[in-house]
Amino acid sequence: MKVAFFDTKPYDVPSFEKYGAQKGMEFKFYETKLNEDTAPLADGCEAACVFVNDTVNAAVIDRLHAGGVKLIALRSAGYNNVDIEHAFGKIHVVHVPAYSPYSVAEHAMALLLTSIRRIHKAYIRTREFNFSLNGLTGFDLHGKTVGVIGTGKIGRIFIDICRGFGMKVIAYDKFPAPDSGIDYVSLDELFARSDIISVHCPLTAETRHLIDGAAIARMKKGVVILNTSRGALIDAEALLEGIKARQIGAACLDVYEEESDVFFRDLSGHILGDDLLARLISMPNVIVTSHQAFLTEDALNNIAETTVNNICSYFDHDGLCDNELCYRCGNIERCKKERKQRCF
Ligand code: NAI
Repeated sequence: MKVAFFDTKPYDVPSFEKYGAQKGMEFKFYETKLNEDTAPLADGCEAACVFVNDTVNAAVIDRLHAGGVKLIALRSAGYNNVDIEHAFGKIHVVHVPAYSPYSVAEHAMALLLTSIRRIHKAYIRTREFNFSLNGLTGFDLHGKTVGVIGTGKIGRIFIDICRGFGMKVIAYDKFPAPDSGIDYVSLDELFARSDIISVHCPLTAETRHLIDGAAIARMKKGVVILNTSRGALIDAEALLEGIKARQIGAACLDVYEEESDVFFRDLSGHILGDDLLARLISMPNVIVTSHQAFLTEDALNNIAETTVNNICSYFDHDGLCDNELCYRCGNIERCKKERKQRCF
């Protein structure tokens, strides 16, 4: 079975070759991202394996379909870059719902600690034998209130980590988990009460710019904002304004609204064209990592193993795959739970 693998990075190859070889799968690794121009590279392949910044819009889906591709295998949890509605009836779509929620939750905490204890500054100072402590004053996490938006797999692990630090946790979720012991509040209350806000919900039409200028204005002065979910959950221009106005105390971003042309690439030595990103990075209280939260050995192995199993179960068992996404019921999550057979 041939699989066209788009947006390949060196760290993807060993785990996919290992698990793919066990199932007799042949990967054609392409460094290029999937888009309308590159979709023909998948001609003759049964599946296309894509990542978060590949474009899988209606035109790309139609071109893949015309080239004989039957399955789009996302090697990510998020699927906001795929027009699932358009794919319905043409190409089946599978994803990796959980590969290591710990990797992302732990990265969120790593960013938070780095930021509020100024570790990123201290590291550079001591390398230059500057042992001054001036300007490195942080604050204790113990006793602070953290507001968690989205209490799914990653959000809940992040909550457990925060509780371990003695923080008070409040949360907002559109679908609160019953009997979870989580103290759910309205989004407004979360904005008003939180010292730290961490976003762990998916990007949808509804959650786009969930944190905008109006939301930031309702937050506590000095709030720390963490985003390890999807860039467009936060209006980056409003974030910058909030930082300049000293309303936001710090921001830790593993994702950025316009990341697709920048993240995952070595652009050192180039002129960065994105003024907004450059300005954010220039701020002393902003830390940016380039969609790195998932990147642990454990996660990479789980991603490869689950993706290979997704592809195999789709082709081996009449298309029934637990990790398929579709609009059969108009609700992807419910559809996944209720499905007893392939989606179409
Ligand atoms: P999940 O599906 O387990 O949890 C998402 C939660 O968000 C659910 O509890 C759901 O009810 C809630 N939600 C849905 N709509 C909402 C809304 N309108 N308002 C508030 N809450 C809402 O997903 P998981 O695995 O916890 O992942 C969360 C997000 O993390 C993913 O959507 C993905 O975008 C991002 N992610 C980022 C990675 C990175 O490397 N930076 C890696 C993996 C995931």
